[in-house]
Amino acid sequence: MDRYAVIGNPVAHSLSPRIHAWFAQQTGEVLEYQRLLAPLDGFVEVAGRFFAEGGRGANVTVPFKAEAAAWVEDLDPLARAAGAVNTILYDGQRRYGFNTDGLGLVRDLEINQHESLAGVRILMLGAGGAANGVAGPLLAAGPAELVVANRTVGRAEQLVARFPEARLGGKIRAAALSELSERFDIVINATSAGLDGAVPAVDSHVVAGAFCYDMVYGHSTAFCSWAAAREARAVIDGVGMLVEQAAAAFLVWRGIRPETRPLLELLRSERQVAAGEAAANGDPEGLES
Ligand code: ATR
Repeated sequence: MDRYAVIGNPVAHSLSPRIHAWFAQQTGEVLEYQRLLAPLDGFVEVAGRFFAEGGRGANVTVPFKAEAAAWVEDLDPLARAAGAVNTILYDGQRRYGFNTDGLGLVRDLEINQHESLAGVRILMLGAGGAANGVAGPLLAAGPAELVVANRTVGRAEQLVARFPEARLGGKIRAAALSELSERFDIVINATSAGLDGAVPAVDSHVVAGAFCYDMVYGHSTAFCSWAAAREARAVIDGVGMLVEQAAAAFLVWRGIRPETRPLLELLRSERQVAAGEAAANGDPEGLES
């Protein structure tokens, strides 16, 4: 049976095995998909052994995406631009690296959420690995402006410098979190602040009336709760991005694009049940991981 895996640290709670098992069933593809925990200094060893033992492909998650980009032998243009790989295809000879995160985000926003990105003003909070992975596809969707704001403004400037043409054309610019006060159509949280239950320190006006998207997933992330209490037009977490990046990876591996809507509906209805149970048990967060 063709074998696939998600390699990360931590990886125990990854939804990817479930998502890919569901896609396999839906498309009639026969495959096996497992979780592989790699030590922080052991990505190449774990991934190398997996492919040497017959693995056909892998997803790569935190904190190994940049290392994976350096390790593969071929990089697709999006992965090269992002300097990060979340999907590896192995044909028995060469390792090919892809990055489907940005495509997953754009597809979730435009197709699942019906939020057109063309001509709108987008604020992206964060300039780390997650933000770098999605900036190219966000810009390619044709927003009027993409503002990249980060606590450490130098990192936002570095990200923006990767897009000299868009910067010259006024399509992308860097900002410090503290200097933001204008409104945006869409605000995307690409920081890891939520992992500590924190929210980037931005003025409330920034999210008022905006469609707010947290790239982290969980039924009530810190950013979603914060934005919902500040007149955001809508708040949504990153479960759709997770499912869409997985569908794009499945397409790379199997040549078939699975349908995502039924799985998203299933995950959302399960989550509502879980949220109800969490509330009944006095757990206000109900965060998934
Ligand atoms: P990831 O791969 O998840 O993006 P990363 O590369 O370490 O991880 O980047 C984390 C991002 O979250 C950065 O943009 C970081 O801001 P700094 O560059 O200033 O460190 C941001 N971040 C993390 N915690 C934050 C917090 N409490 N408030 C605001 N930004 C935060």
